[in-house]
Amino acid sequence: MRDERRVALVTGGARGIGRAVAARLAGDGWRVVVADRDLASPALAARGIACDVADEAAVAQLIQGIAAEEGRLDALVSNAGFMIRKPLAALSLAEWQAVLGANLTATFLLVRAAEPLLRAARGAVVTIASTRARQSEADTESYSASKGGLVALTHALAVSLGPEVRVNCVSPGWIDTKGEAAAGSLRPVDHAQHPAGRVGRPEDVAGLVAWLVGPEAGFVTGAEFVTDGGMTRKMSYAE
Ligand SMILES: NC(=O)c1ccc[n+]([C@@H]2O[C@H](COP(=O)([O-])OP(=O)(O)OC[C@H]3O[C@@H](n4cnc5c(N)ncnc54)[C@H](O)[C@@H]3O)[C@@H](O)[C@H]2O)c1
Repeated sequence: MRDERRVALVTGGARGIGRAVAARLAGDGWRVVVADRDLASPALAARGIACDVADEAAVAQLIQGIAAEEGRLDALVSNAGFMIRKPLAALSLAEWQAVLGANLTATFLLVRAAEPLLRAARGAVVTIASTRARQSEADTESYSASKGGLVALTHALAVSLGPEVRVNCVSPGWIDTKGEAAAGSLRPVDHAQHPAGRVGRPEDVAGLVAWLVGPEAGFVTGAEFVTDGGMTRKMSYAE
């Protein structure tokens, strides 16, 4: 019998936020494909593909594989990314380009390759940016630039791919991906400084993504959703 379930691709889905998104969508009845350059962690209820999403040929192969195996693509969650925190003078061009490649160029490569499948499915794309698209700590130039670019790429894609494909962005704040809250290694102030009273959890992002790729978000495209417990709404002048 043909499998009629919707298909989602989650990049960087082997751990952290991507893993929570993959688990949530699988639990909601989606067929999930996880693409990650490091698939070391235990398997989810998903098909795992080892893939560097900053590599053009690897992305083409990934999408061709989905066309052949799953035969459709209803949602792309472009989540893979990483940060290099280094003083500007020490940041090499290769490091800058590696961060831009994974955090920004990958979304261009993925959406370009998947456009026919996404249009055919009247699908949705969610990019995972960061509140660092709009505010910074020192020594984070490549990361902030990549996430600012990703927010802009999101609305550009929304305009180009509509009306068939909706494209939205989630910008998380501090998300505890290493279980530090459960392990007791976060300080009370880490939680209390947030207007929401706590540090974020991967499931906070997953819930928002699940809504964005679903039918209730049908009138939402080109938008950025901040899930940061209110941190970027707080004035932070010294007392
Ligand atoms: N954790 C946070 O507080 C936070 C806050 C804001 C934004 N984000 C963003 O959320 C996303 C997920 O972050 P996380 O905290 O879960 O990180 P993580 O390091 O726990 O997981 C990221 C995953 O992406 C994969 N990955 C990285 N580069 C890749 C590439 N080129 N090709 C394929 N896979 C690649 C890694 O192997 C890893 O499994 C990132 O884009 C990150 O910038 C995280």
